Amino acid sequence: MKQSAKKKSLDHAFWAKFAQNYWERKPAIFSGITSPILNIDSDHIFQLLVRYSEHCRQTNTTEGMKFYIDGQPQYFEDVLRYLPVPRDRSLTGYHRRMSQQFKDYCLVCDELLQVSQEKWDLLGNFMLDLYQEVGFPNRYAEIGLYLGNYRKTPFGVHVDGCGVFSFPVVGTKRFRLWDPRIVKKHPDLEESHHYAPYKKQSQLLQANPGDMTYWPSSYWHIAESNGSFSATWSLGVWVNEPFQETLAEMLKPFLPKMLSKDADHRMVTFRQIHDGTGRIHQLPELFERSIAILSALPERELKDLALKFWLARTSKKGFKNPPLLPPEERLTPKDQVRAKSEHPILWAQLSQGLLCLAVNGKLIELPESKAVSKLIQDLNSGRAFALAASSPDEKQILHRLYELNALKKLENRKLDLATPVSGMKQKRSPKAKLSTPARNKKTERKP
Ligand SMILES: [Fe+2]
Repeated sequence: MKQSAKKKSLDHAFWAKFAQNYWERKPAIFSGITSPILNIDSDHIFQLLVRYSEHCRQTNTTEGMKFYIDGQPQYFEDVLRYLPVPRDRSLTGYHRRMSQQFKDYCLVCDELLQVSQEKWDLLGNFMLDLYQEVGFPNRYAEIGLYLGNYRKTPFGVHVDGCGVFSFPVVGTKRFRLWDPRIVKKHPDLEESHHYAPYKKQSQLLQANPGDMTYWPSSYWHIAESNGSFSATWSLGVWVNEPFQETLAEMLKPFLPKMLSKDADHRMVTFRQIHDGTGRIHQLPELFERSIAILSALPERELKDLALKFWLARTSKKGFKNPPLLPPEERLTPKDQVRAKSEHPILWAQLSQGLLCLAVNGKLIELPESKAVSKLIQDLNSGRAFALAASSPDEKQILHRLYELNALKKLENRKLDLATPVSGMKQKRSPKAKLSTPARNKKTERKP
């Protein structure tokens, strides 16, 4: 179904309607939409791709990268060799170089988010608006990128277990989709590259830069082309993890602490498995001891555990691997800092006088105090802090938050004047505030 009658912004009304009509129900293409997410263009994707490729070359890894030639996956060394380099200058420049060597190639990257620090808020906004309507994924969301002149997706007609939003940035992208009921009737479609007899029962989504497509997690699909170049990035929301697995994941790291030495036993000793009638009269001691420990577990401990788990997930906005570039510059006593993101630093009150802060999936536990609560609330309201005017406790927290990339240094006087700076009136002269030290230059990594 093509949604192109009038320009739509991806606002609350859009997502409410989307949840009602499309989410996990049916595919759609949305044309003529306005959204900051569409500002992620081919140049930006190229920058991210080169940035992640540089990371791969430096660490001699290809995690999240795949390269196919004529539908065949390439070995690690070749994947590394064929990754984009800065001198390609653009996605089409990279394609020019690759197409001189290969008639049919496909590059896949699933880890662009790790280097997308500057788009983190924007991507988070998109996901949080969606989650507000459809719920939070038990598994995760991730970014994907497919580019090349490949005729068909190398692994054929397939299904992923995630709902997918796609955004072409170069060329025309064609996705062919099948309702799962059709694939159930015709199982030879599974992983097939030869689906001509079933074309009539498929849906074709043909999208160009500026469009957004969506298909539900249960839809089988394949990308197809006539050999022309296209590049498309996507957001996949995995919906295939039942809550019981999420709970098991939450409890797993807690068990060693709870069971102590018992957690590590490799064998269960027993007196007698059963009596002469086959009846089991008693549990092995190891089980009995574990039950006693579980039964005595105070509710507050389980609540703390759940709160920390939820804080970690929500502070990642449900993403698998959020960007976490360590700050390149150290904080100095003269610096002023403020929250980096438009999203608040998440925090919660735990039991036994503790607070827990969460940034991009990382947690900081601290003794509860009015001063700490106020500091976080002030940071979340946009307030800037001068380290020189902060108490030793505040300084320590500001340093830890800065290390987790939750804070940025103030860069110039404009920012200083925009909002109050804690303690600045007493501690610094107006002249001092005017200066823009060299250390305040932008610190973001460049490709
Ligand atoms: Fe797929």
